[in-house]
Amino acid sequence: MEVIIQDSYEEISRQAARIVARTLYSKPNAVLGLATGSTPLGLYKELIRMHKEEALDFSRVTTFNLDEYVGLRKQHTQSYHYFMHENLFKHVNISQQNIYIPSGTTNNYQAFCAWYEQQIEKCGGIDLQILGIGSDGHVAFNEPGSSLGSRTRIKTLTKQTIEDNARFFDSADEVPVYSITMGVGTILEARQIILLANGANKAKAVAGAIEGPVTSMCTASALQMHRDTLFLLDQEAAGDLKMTEYYQWIQSKMPDSP
Ligand code: PGA
Repeated sequence: MEVIIQDSYEEISRQAARIVARTLYSKPNAVLGLATGSTPLGLYKELIRMHKEEALDFSRVTTFNLDEYVGLRKQHTQSYHYFMHENLFKHVNISQQNIYIPSGTTNNYQAFCAWYEQQIEKCGGIDLQILGIGSDGHVAFNEPGSSLGSRTRIKTLTKQTIEDNARFFDSADEVPVYSITMGVGTILEARQIILLANGANKAKAVAGAIEGPVTSMCTASALQMHRDTLFLLDQEAAGDLKMTEYYQWIQSKMPDSP
């Protein structure tokens, strides 16, 4: 587990984009796990810039999104299908048939979830997974109490998440109560993970994830069990960490490391 603390949101976004680009340079047909929400917007903006100015190529890339609201059609402006199209896919040369996003409108969720898991496996697993973190410590929509071995399934959102996400809707009443989400177990199988967090409202969740016990009460803490996870944080999101000095010491010593 690596913890990098930067001065600004822009810097963590750029650093994450450099890692994604490095993955695509070394494996042009890489499988990326993608997240929605405010957090990865800076990363997607930088990837679009790299595509336009530096010819970063998405033509052979496959993507799997973490989650979707149940009940929202793809065209709904708050659906994660719409979000991904608007904020990344329509700006890069990704092939439509290589894009996987959980369906919020299937008539058989159980079968869809099993199919989604199978597709990830069929594509060879996720090479690099991008994550945000909820203020309640969730990754994807794996709310507190989610099994740390969970797979793609329907999950009921917490009131906290509904309140957090109400800013994107006209009112909290309009936020769907159910989501379809990759499980914690699914996420942990990604070969490499980057969790991005910015802002003081994430500080408690970030501290729980990195320095707290591994617990389903903060599903991001399961990343402590993963062998290649990077936490990219701005100063505010890192505000409740106790070992900050050590994380910075590690970074300063990295160039000389044997
Ligand atoms: P945010 O959401 O990026 O909009 O803060 C993160 C999350 O809920 O995982």
